[in-house]
Amino acid sequence: MDYKELGKSGKKIPVLGLGTWGIGGSMSRNTHRDEEGLRALRLGLELEMSFIDTAEMYASGHSEELVAKAVKPGREGVFIATKVSRENLRHDDVIKACESSLRRLETNYIDLYQVHWPNPSIPITETMKAMEHLVAEGKIRHIGVSNFSFRQTREAQQALSKSNLASNQVEYSLLDRSIEPDLLPYAQKENITIIAYTPLAKGRFSEGGRGRSWLILDQMASKYSRTRIQVALNWLIAKKPVVAIPKAGSLDHVRENAGAVGWKMSNVDHDMLSEAFS
Ligand SMILES: NC(=O)c1ccc[n+]([C@@H]2O[C@H](COP(=O)([O-])OP(=O)(O)OC[C@H]3O[C@@H](n4cnc5c(N)ncnc54)[C@H](OP(=O)(O)O)[C@@H]3O)[C@@H](O)[C@H]2O)c1
Repeated sequence: MDYKELGKSGKKIPVLGLGTWGIGGSMSRNTHRDEEGLRALRLGLELEMSFIDTAEMYASGHSEELVAKAVKPGREGVFIATKVSRENLRHDDVIKACESSLRRLETNYIDLYQVHWPNPSIPITETMKAMEHLVAEGKIRHIGVSNFSFRQTREAQQALSKSNLASNQVEYSLLDRSIEPDLLPYAQKENITIIAYTPLAKGRFSEGGRGRSWLILDQMASKYSRTRIQVALNWLIAKKPVVAIPKAGSLDHVRENAGAVGWKMSNVDHDMLSEAFS
């Protein structure tokens, strides 16, 4: 596995983590495929993708419960990121939500606690005050946001007085480049990690397509003896502030995704791919 520093924290995290949306249910708890989900998470950890992303809202909290099971007994070696929902961003609600996540995760600290979505009706300073309180209490180690625009990210960073903003989790892939004009350069300049979600465009890269962009992706896959999925993930993690969290329930998919790490495209090829999908 390759590692990158999380924000300016000095903490190194794997460049590929494990997404969990859909494991244990989606909008509500569904236990029918728990064993399958657990096997996928455990294989991901064995393959050193020891960074798991979850959220209090995923499967109404059941995703966090499954993460707790998957990391047993080696919680110390796993970087756990979870999220507080946008309706819980008042000071006392953040504290309560964190306590509930800690209970479901069966741990006494969360490595990265993220604001899931901005909520314009609650001042970000109030939310960040609660986040800094949780850091001071040792309940969370790092503070992040998710789905924050460039301006909202800057505001969140300015609202922190004792900590640095570690990360912003946003959609990013060859097929969604919306962060490139402003958020990505800002993150790079300020050393804020971009955690790329939906990095496989929900598996779309495995299907391929017609046109020049897909032809070039196929050419790269063939040149580096990798799959389209592996090239698409490698393209993301080659960017300085970016790590990615693909979700895979299938064991073959977990193995394939792990193969996106440990090699590098040439700069010329990376640029060609960027241009082809722009
Ligand atoms: N912060 C937010 O608001 C937010 C929003 C969306 C997502 N996220 C996070 O980001 C994670 C990843 O995003 P995502 O789940 O939306 O999308 P994704 O990772 O781009 O795609 C997941 C889909 O791709 C399939 N897949 C995985 N590996 C594959 C492979 N090697 N070949 C073919 N198909 C493959 C999976 O199928 P199988 O499951 O069948 O293997 C699943 O259907 C989420 O799980 C969640 O943790 C965060």
